[in-house]
Amino acid sequence: MTQRSLGTHLLFALSLAGLAVLSGCGGGKPAEKSGAGKTETKTGEAPAGGKFTLTIGCNLELTGDVAPWGQDSKKGIDLAVEAINADPKSPFKIECIYEDNLSQADASKAAIRKLIQQSKAQVVVGSVGSNRSLAAIDVAKDERVPMVTHASTNVDITRKGGEYVFRICFDDDFQGQFMARYALKDLQAKTCVAVVDKGNAYSEGLVASFKKEFEAGGGKVIAEEAYQSKDNDFQTLVTKLRTANPDCVWLPGYFPNVGPIIKQARAAGFQKKFLGGDGWDDEELYKLGGPSIKGNPFCNHFDKGDTNAKVKEFVEAYEKKYGKKPGAMAALGYDVILVVADAAKRAGKADPEAIKDALKTVKDIETVCGAVTMGADHEVTKPAVLLETGETDHVFMKRQ
Ligand code: PHE
Repeated sequence: MTQRSLGTHLLFALSLAGLAVLSGCGGGKPAEKSGAGKTETKTGEAPAGGKFTLTIGCNLELTGDVAPWGQDSKKGIDLAVEAINADPKSPFKIECIYEDNLSQADASKAAIRKLIQQSKAQVVVGSVGSNRSLAAIDVAKDERVPMVTHASTNVDITRKGGEYVFRICFDDDFQGQFMARYALKDLQAKTCVAVVDKGNAYSEGLVASFKKEFEAGGGKVIAEEAYQSKDNDFQTLVTKLRTANPDCVWLPGYFPNVGPIIKQARAAGFQKKFLGGDGWDDEELYKLGGPSIKGNPFCNHFDKGDTNAKVKEFVEAYEKKYGKKPGAMAALGYDVILVVADAAKRAGKADPEAIKDALKTVKDIETVCGAVTMGADHEVTKPAVLLETGETDHVFMKRQ
């Protein structure tokens, strides 16, 4: 990992995480109530002892196609919030309001609007999928409330998002380049077929960034194929792959499609490596892909086996609370709260404008997925890890 320097804010946040572990995770029991067909959940307690209340709106895929990502984000967020709320020295209590965007773009727009207009969130985190974040940026802009995505990697989110939109993970130019270089150097691939999830900005952006880097390095994308997220029969695609017979296949999709695509390709005898991005990251991939999914590398934000002290502390706290190890999504959910809390602490008040200004100057915050310093373009520079699919779980390959 790059820069592992400890800032004071980091010490603050991480000592809190330790505190929560020791005390069996303090903080209020989440109370669920429903609203407008979506789930609304509050975490935290009533403000006390001169503290101000920071209302964080969470626009997440709690149900729908990629519900495991929304649910895991929530778990990471709740863990960080409980730690901060258990700390007597924290200047605020965090109240998280959750809105379910149903894994759909229109619902994401409605969700962020509701979080800001009705729930009066002073800052919004989310969403996970790039299409959902792209649908939300105009609302953040119009309402003048900062939005911080923890996981959406499409480059246009920050480029088009303007003053109020921030990202705390690497983007698709970065991961596309990372995997193109891996294909060229480590796999010695000369030819590749790129397979896009049509209509998914994440997948389309990753095909473009991979292709640019792969071809600049002397490789050739010999064909571009497409599927749609609703598809489940990939026989035509598999036939095309077998005919083209490339050295590798670039498959920057989401796990619900990636699992069946690789499974069907292997069943038909296609044995070349598939390469992917962070969208492969979910344990569901192994249920959908079966054991034949083994041996395919992908780029990710986080390795749960990392021996770094901060990562170990997080993994232990998470496992203690939820009974299983975290994936990248939970780690990023945890991280976004550390970043927002740092900004709110320096802002000194629950005010969207002041928090937005403080987000611009986030510096050296140590998070689970690396150090965070906000750039002028509202982007951070974070390291990547290369994982590979095993038979039932990811296997660590190397750090960037
Ligand atoms: N980066 C993906 C997107 O923008 C979301 C994602 C992040 C998925 C991290 C898995 C892990 O759509």
